[in-house]
Amino acid sequence: MLGNFSYSNPTKLYFGENSLEFLNEELPKYGKRVQLIYGKSSIKKNGLYDKIVEILKKNGKEIFEDAGVMPNPTVQKLYEGCKIAKDNDVDLLLAVGGGSVCDYAKAVAASAHCKEDPWEKYYLRSEEIDNRILPVGCVLTMVGTGSEMNGGSVITNHEQKLKIGRVFGDNVFPKFSILNPVFTYTLPEYQMVAGIYDIMSHILEQYFSGEDDNTSDYLSEGLLRSLIHSSRIALKNPTDYEARSNIMWIATWALNTLVAKGKTTDWMVHMLGHAVGSYTDATHGMTLAAVSMAYYKKILPYGLQKFKRYAVNVWDVCPEGKSDEAIALEGLAVMEAWMREMKLVMNLSDLGVTEEMLEGLANSTFVKTGGYKILTHEEIVAVFKDSL
Ligand code: NZQ
Ligand code: ZN
Repeated sequence: MLGNFSYSNPTKLYFGENSLEFLNEELPKYGKRVQLIYGKSSIKKNGLYDKIVEILKKNGKEIFEDAGVMPNPTVQKLYEGCKIAKDNDVDLLLAVGGGSVCDYAKAVAASAHCKEDPWEKYYLRSEEIDNRILPVGCVLTMVGTGSEMNGGSVITNHEQKLKIGRVFGDNVFPKFSILNPVFTYTLPEYQMVAGIYDIMSHILEQYFSGEDDNTSDYLSEGLLRSLIHSSRIALKNPTDYEARSNIMWIATWALNTLVAKGKTTDWMVHMLGHAVGSYTDATHGMTLAAVSMAYYKKILPYGLQKFKRYAVNVWDVCPEGKSDEAIALEGLAVMEAWMREMKLVMNLSDLGVTEEMLEGLANSTFVKTGGYKILTHEEIVAVFKDSL
């Protein structure tokens, strides 16, 4: 394990089919005024909205509605949410939805009482929070981002062509999150598989760095194997509780800081994917799927031993009689076959990216330095081009 680190996670989780009941235990801990944050229509269609409102009323809460959080929440929506929170002096932000709704709630938590422009202060300049922070609780309905147990908060500014993921500290993590796998059954297949790939990508972003013998990598391999196994079952039978519950639990552990411990971590697939998102507003997991193969093929020579280990330990590639490179490449080929089986989007052109956008996309890509290769501008353009 590299370096010195501390580990704690302040989010309390309630998991399982009966987990919504525990909202009754959490609500009394906060004041009367609750900002109820959700997306467009899914929770009204599947009945979850009514259940939540009933619990809030039973607990004597006054509800301030904040509906219409879009996938890839925008900076304009953030300003709207801050106004609702501030004007009504709310005591709790209750997010009911996927990563977008949870991320947005955290952004409002940090920004509502900010005296400056929060986009500039907390996203562009990434400053420490020096104002009152509102508590957040989550009821998760879409699995993938890990937002339910981390400080991540991704906001998109379409005018500036920037999608920025701020990682806030413990004080912005959700105070509690309710994870009922059954709430994810109504997700369309496209969203379910995008979420599954998001999970895989989160694990790989942390796995593909370093050359030391690190327990975090063994944990990651276990999570990946479980994800691959359950993903195949969930694709065939989306209401298989065992598979959906495993996927939900893997998502949480994939990005709640645990498997990053002692590692530098990469995150370039996400930087490339976020640039694509800032131009196209495409579904997050699909932006990652579309750039992954081109990116991994480019960095494979620089992290050959880890790619070889990945092929053998995660994808069961038989190493006998093969060169290191052949084993590593076979691992990526088996991974690609699984991605196609999952019906993921494998090309950027399918997400609306055109050749003319490539330079701009590269300019919108933040370059990270923790992986096996620090990409140059030209290499980033080449990865996008290879992904078309
Ligand atoms: O708006 P509604 O009607 O609710 O529909 C949503 C939305 O259209 C729908 N949905 C959610 N739960 C549903 C459902 N439909 C039917 N039944 C249900 N149970 O799904 C659509 C997508 O939801 P969204 O929340 O956007 O998906 P996801 O959870 O993938 O979140 C994506 C956002 O999270 C960010 C992404 O960049 C993106 O902005 N990320 C956050 C991270 C973090 N906090 O650490 C890390 C990730 O890498 C990621 O960047
Ligand atoms: Zn992600």
